[in-house]
Amino acid sequence: MEIRKRIAAGNWKMNLSVSAAHELFQAIAEAYDTLRLDEQRQVILAPPFVYLEQLSKWAEEYPFLHLCAQNCHQEDKGAFTGEISAPMLTALGVEYVLVGHSERRSLFHESHNLLSLKVDAVLRNGLIPIFCCGEPLAVRERNEHFNLIQQQLEDSLWHLSALDKILIAYEPVWAIGTGKTATPEQAQEMHAFIRKLVAARYGQQVAEGLTILYGGSCNASNASSLFSQPDVDGGLVGGASLKAQEFIPIIQSL
Ligand code: PGA
Repeated sequence: MEIRKRIAAGNWKMNLSVSAAHELFQAIAEAYDTLRLDEQRQVILAPPFVYLEQLSKWAEEYPFLHLCAQNCHQEDKGAFTGEISAPMLTALGVEYVLVGHSERRSLFHESHNLLSLKVDAVLRNGLIPIFCCGEPLAVRERNEHFNLIQQQLEDSLWHLSALDKILIAYEPVWAIGTGKTATPEQAQEMHAFIRKLVAARYGQQVAEGLTILYGGSCNASNASSLFSQPDVDGGLVGGASLKAQEFIPIIQSL
């Protein structure tokens, strides 16, 4: 049975030069002792694929700094030019993989079915999926956001017989990269809804142990109010994770 964690995850997307990545990592490493991380309170970094190997070496001395890939292919190997497989990530010491980020869904047309195969590939290789869900603005305006999130979870996760090796990130699409954050109440409402769905499908104990992150314009000034909600267990942070002076206070708000 998994125990619920507090997590600050930085999704660097396709950003940072090698030297900027090093500088950012150094700043986090220098602050490491002050962050009071432990089994229950952790940091996850999701750099571009090409930095993972280097970062896994840098992160060796920091037990509660974990690595995440931003994507992977659903097959373990084969003729898929340009793709990266889950076993390759496992071999580098990566522990998490983002699955179903809204940019993958919209810009790369990843379907529910494909995402369910990716979730399987990640789990099969001993990695932990951070499964992202979230509704576009038009869906919220039609008041269909609960239905859509339910659908996204059912279509890509509910085939699993157990849900104890998964993290969920709720990222309303209208809040990603827009500077428009969900209010703590909106985040709490959806996180509680997700936990309730998980309880109905996998039982109360699994739901209680599930870590649910909020993502979408999370920054140093709004992190504490978001993370203080009872069902918000941390954040998946894009833009603000690229700057140490933003990301470190976010970690401190856990
Ligand atoms: P943002 O991105 O923090 O820049 O809004 C979040 C994400 O896409 O994971």
